[in-house]
Amino acid sequence: MNIVDLIIKKRDGGKLTKEEIEFFIKGVTDSSIPDYQVSAMLMAIYFQDLDNEETSELTMAMAHSGGTFDLSSVEGIKVDKHSTGGVADTTTLILAPLVASCGVPVIKMSGRGLGFSGGTLDKLESIPGFKIDVTEEQALEYAKTSGIVLMSQTDNLTPADKKLYALRDVTGTVDNLALISGSIMSKKIAAGADAIVLDVKCGSGAFMKDYPSAVKLAKTMAEIGKSVGRNVTAVISSMDQPLGMNIGNSLEVIEAIEVLKGNVKGDLLDVALTLGAYMLIGAKKVNSVEEGISMLTENINNGKGLAKFRELLIQQHGNPDIIEDYSLLPLSKAKLEVRADSDGYIYSMNTAEIGRSSLETGAGRASKTDSIDFGSGIIMKVRIGDTVSKGDVIAEIYSATEEKCISAGKYLKDAIEIKAEKPEQPKLILDIIS
Ligand code: URA
Repeated sequence: MNIVDLIIKKRDGGKLTKEEIEFFIKGVTDSSIPDYQVSAMLMAIYFQDLDNEETSELTMAMAHSGGTFDLSSVEGIKVDKHSTGGVADTTTLILAPLVASCGVPVIKMSGRGLGFSGGTLDKLESIPGFKIDVTEEQALEYAKTSGIVLMSQTDNLTPADKKLYALRDVTGTVDNLALISGSIMSKKIAAGADAIVLDVKCGSGAFMKDYPSAVKLAKTMAEIGKSVGRNVTAVISSMDQPLGMNIGNSLEVIEAIEVLKGNVKGDLLDVALTLGAYMLIGAKKVNSVEEGISMLTENINNGKGLAKFRELLIQQHGNPDIIEDYSLLPLSKAKLEVRADSDGYIYSMNTAEIGRSSLETGAGRASKTDSIDFGSGIIMKVRIGDTVSKGDVIAEIYSATEEKCISAGKYLKDAIEIKAEKPEQPKLILDIIS
């Protein structure tokens, strides 16, 4: 087989066979296909797309490009969760301890943030001392004792995805439905959970900007899961405004703790409860979403969710005192208040641009090698539909320098539209696909 022939076949709209896809992924994994030919293939796929069969074959070839994580020694139905990526999307830090506190083991491998979307690993690393590098043996041990592990993906898991994602990132080929499905599902399949809940984000701050493409992505991933005997539920949720009010690493940790303390209500809590309820259904702990939400809510009210979060911090060497004392978390020195230019309603938000603003503060990375300023970010003061008067503070920006605050403030201001007309309230949960 020759890679040039395969690139030409895909470029001209042909369908790749299972063997051809396996040849491509093997060549990516062992570097026998050079980056320029891998990139050419990615661009051919971007323009010509993969059908469902090709997407499944790609996913399975990627899932088996390295080792797989065997969770069979951990008792119970293991559930995993994945978000396609958004802004102020801190649900993992809330629902992993909450679901684990209901007696369902959560062993979650997470990634770092790239571009406008934040990554769970970066948030965890903003906690002084927290160790995200956990070996598979350690993870199994933790899962058996505490029922919760939040860790970085181990090196031998889906090496093909690591290479492909890095190349997609620099060749403008990230936002392709087949490539996103393959990337996410290969990692979830290799990570070994029995049930998977996907949070497919839809809106201005998501890869999928409109409802039909979000549904298509959700259905593709659910089909892939079904074909390998994994129970997959996809929740399609809105990303037309930041999910929580805090954007940035330590700021999002604080908001997650506040939710676990029962002090914060709203969209972040609602999405976390919905995803958590489907995780409990996947684990056969409850029979309905209502039952799941009520079990999770009870564990917020009785403090069991927060206690599990504390257990996670102690287990992975994070300072548990941050729960009572947020000043132990980093917070950048320079601060800027962004104010409304006019009276009216908060009419719309360009969420990707708000993510761009947070990137400007230093809270994210534009390219994989960028370092992060854990204490920087944005505290939003408004949501769509709120009324404001000229001069009201609509956001606080934190960054290392005043210049960075000013630059981030410009992006933020441009991203928020204030109008005299009352907007329609965006729907939070758009659909459930299973
Ligand atoms: N998240 C992933 O893990 N992969 C993608 O391709 C997009 C989002």
